[in-house]
Amino acid sequence: MISTKRDIYEHYNNDENIAITMKQHEQKRLRVLIFLGGFLSMLALMYIIPRATLTLNDKMLSQDPATLEQVREGNDIRSLKINVKEFNGVWQVVNASVEMYLYSAYYDDRPSLLTNPVIRVIAVSESQVEQRKVYCYIWYDVSTDPFVEVAEILHLGAGNNRHGKYFREHIYTCKLQTSKDIPKAISIELEETDVKLPEPSTYMTVQVPEKPETKQDFINCVSVTFWKVDPYRVVEWMELHKLWGVNKVTIYNSSIEDESAKVFLHYQKEGFVDFRQAPQFVPDPGEMSILLTMSPVICDCLYRNMHKYNKVVVTDLDEMIVPRTTLDYKSMLDEINNRQPSEHKALSYMFRNDYFFMDPQMPEDTDMPKKLATLRHRVRLPPSGPGYSVKSIIDPQACVVMHNHFCWVRTKGHDTNGHTVDVNVDLAMNQHYKKCHFDKYLGKPGECARMMEEQIADDTMLRFKDKLIENVSKQLKSLGLEL
Ligand SMILES: *[C@@H]1O[C@H](CO)[C@@H](O)[C@H](O)[C@H]1NC(C)=O
Ligand SMILES: *[C@@H]1O[C@H](CO)[C@@H](O)[C@H](O)[C@H]1NC(C)=O
Ligand SMILES: *[C@@H]1O[C@H](CO)[C@@H](O)[C@H](O)[C@H]1NC(C)=O
Repeated sequence: MISTKRDIYEHYNNDENIAITMKQHEQKRLRVLIFLGGFLSMLALMYIIPRATLTLNDKMLSQDPATLEQVREGNDIRSLKINVKEFNGVWQVVNASVEMYLYSAYYDDRPSLLTNPVIRVIAVSESQVEQRKVYCYIWYDVSTDPFVEVAEILHLGAGNNRHGKYFREHIYTCKLQTSKDIPKAISIELEETDVKLPEPSTYMTVQVPEKPETKQDFINCVSVTFWKVDPYRVVEWMELHKLWGVNKVTIYNSSIEDESAKVFLHYQKEGFVDFRQAPQFVPDPGEMSILLTMSPVICDCLYRNMHKYNKVVVTDLDEMIVPRTTLDYKSMLDEINNRQPSEHKALSYMFRNDYFFMDPQMPEDTDMPKKLATLRHRVRLPPSGPGYSVKSIIDPQACVVMHNHFCWVRTKGHDTNGHTVDVNVDLAMNQHYKKCHFDKYLGKPGECARMMEEQIADDTMLRFKDKLIENVSKQLKSLGLEL
């Protein structure tokens, strides 16, 4: 760590990349002087002028004069040692009077933002933070001086209660004043009544999403996975998505049991799955704090992959978007574009939900392999209404906040007419395989029986049967399981 002005000066002089012109230099000095104009004491002058004349191109402190003054008023945090508290080796805990947990931070320079690049910090916090200022301290490589900004707070989920407090999934967006340099790290801190600008207690490495020369077609970002998972269902799901042309699947582990994890590790070894850790942010029994990480991991997957794939598919492991007139996702989207044309350059597609309930009241084709749910369960309900539990395929260049069902917040440049196609149910649907949950969910016994009165035979999946059986058999064999 650099602790004296002399060290800093030498440090910068040694760095060839950060030479700036005399003109910028003068402008900077002028700006600082204007901000502080009337308040300058002799002491302040002695302090500010030497600092403002350093040859730094990251000395662009916030343009909010109030923040600038606080930093100048002796809250010079460059020499502070940051004592980061981590939970589960993943979540960083903000030292604040309300609970705040940080998952990851990404550099976002998508052209359609129509602004300078920003840093997106994915977090779960008590909703009270929305009434306070959340600060971003932006750390560049060449300096131990942070650049301070007030974060913009976006919701990325509906929130949930936990130990009597209301938690909400957030993205803190930190504006950058330059598109030239990429920050190395970021601290997120909360305004407190007694401390204007708190000492940094977090330090997140800013991840820069890969930008390969050529993009691949599809990645599936699966929401958080936990506890027990049926390996047969997973193999069937994975092989179908391969068949449909999905290049990669991201799985986030929140306490998946070791026996269930084997199937994901198998696919990771094969290169098809990116298996990532998303433990709970607090040691909490039950599902609440796991469910609060659902949208955070979907957004993590979106940001991590926004330049690598043309489209992002978001579905859970008990459902799948199935093309009905074509054999893979690429030709399915071509077909949708033909039949439901839109001029929009970064389209999202919304697929209607359709339940293929796996209850005994629904007929099951016992001639099909026992472990292949989509071949045995070929009787469905009528499709759900528009907007109900829809699933999406989105353009990652256009989405800021991706939720389980659709994109909540779009980039400014792509937030224009015709951005989403409500896909016709004869072209594709989201087929949802589970036991009916409505009796319990709605507290209305008999609701499931009522829903299952109308049954529709549907042989769509038979078109994939031969390839599916062939490849599932191979995978099960190498996993030591039988079809
Ligand atoms: C947390 O913040 C308080 C002030 O609000 C400070 O006294 C304390 O040292 C901080 N702790 C850490 C670990 O940063
Ligand atoms: C089926 O498996 C083989 C061998 O693992 C693979 O090369 C092929 O691409 C798979 N087919 C599909 C449609 O996924
Ligand atoms: C999944 O997450 C749990 C909880 O954090 C952890 O104990 C376990 O080792 C993880 N499994 C794998 C395969 O990484």
